[in-house]
Amino acid sequence: MKIIFASAHDTDSEPWIKPLQALVPTAEFQNWDEHGPTIGAQLAVVWNPPADIFLRESKLEAIFNLGAGVDALFRLPGLKDDTPIVRLEDAGMAVQMAEYAAYALLRASRQFDAYEALQNTQFWTPQPDIDRRKWPVGVMGMGVMGARVAQTLASFNYPVAGWSRSGNDLPGIAQFVGRHQLSAFLGRTRVLINTLPLTDETRGILSRQNLLELQPHAHIVNVGRGEHLIEEDLLALLDSGHIQGATLDVFRQEPLPQDHPFWRHPRITLTPHVAAASLREESIEQVAEKINRYLRGEPLTGVVARSKGY
Ligand code: NAP
Ligand code: GLV
Repeated sequence: MKIIFASAHDTDSEPWIKPLQALVPTAEFQNWDEHGPTIGAQLAVVWNPPADIFLRESKLEAIFNLGAGVDALFRLPGLKDDTPIVRLEDAGMAVQMAEYAAYALLRASRQFDAYEALQNTQFWTPQPDIDRRKWPVGVMGMGVMGARVAQTLASFNYPVAGWSRSGNDLPGIAQFVGRHQLSAFLGRTRVLINTLPLTDETRGILSRQNLLELQPHAHIVNVGRGEHLIEEDLLALLDSGHIQGATLDVFRQEPLPQDHPFWRHPRITLTPHVAAASLREESIEQVAEKINRYLRGEPLTGVVARSKGY
């Protein structure tokens, strides 16, 4: 059993391959070599792999993705419709996502952004006390990431609602389901946190039309994918004042081009796609466990439903 390893984010593959090899001793791991021969691998462990990987390694029986989102794989030529794709489930990402969302929410609601600016003036200027009822949070996507985000923010007593395709009934979280409840969900939300996967159904969902339904002085937190957001619509709504601020981790083009208007926008806080990183130790442990289950013919969790795209 040959397993190809290909990760765009790691120039040094050894810290991944060595422990994977130790945990899956019956297989032979090989790092992707763009100039090397095709190895005829049966399995692949990938994160943003090179564009020709599925054309060159055409015998793959299954693909293990070192991240939660699998949208990048669907863009690659040669990916067969019936090759199972297995994604990471949490593996230390959900708590990072919750931290990120909490930071973005608290920075706006507790006015840390205002205090940062006020410190420069050297004036002791307490701002009005917080009224959490004025900060209703809406989480788009109530899967592994969204559920953790929603529960964390609800634990700070913010009114929190979740929106998903099929529902996730969590104590203390108002539940909205499907397109027919999207409008009601947006209408009760001021801080919108997007944790959706990128699919044909969700691309462009953070559009002018939808964002206008949010409560006034809204704040957008995008930790899903850049293509969820219509960037020009956000800029226009920031200008009009309907949106007060945005915290963005993901972008249509990554790295974000240096001349992109988001960099210098006074009401946008941005980070370079780091909201929830695939932590090496946790990811290796989970992927190795999944591969061993696959090799033993046991059922797997985290298998992407190809019809849904996530
Ligand atoms: P997940 O467990 O599969 O959850 C996806 C959620 O989105 C589910 O609740 C699903 O609804 C909902 N959903 C999907 N399509 C929908 C639609 N058309 N309408 C309404 N709800 C829809 O995935 P996850 O592990 O939470 O990860 C979610 C995404 O986060 C990833 O795909 C990735 O894009 C992003 N992510 C970003 C980072 C980062 O660093 N920025 C890190 C990790 C993940 P159901 O529950 O009904 O299926
Ligand atoms: C990161 O963006 C992931 O999808 O895991």
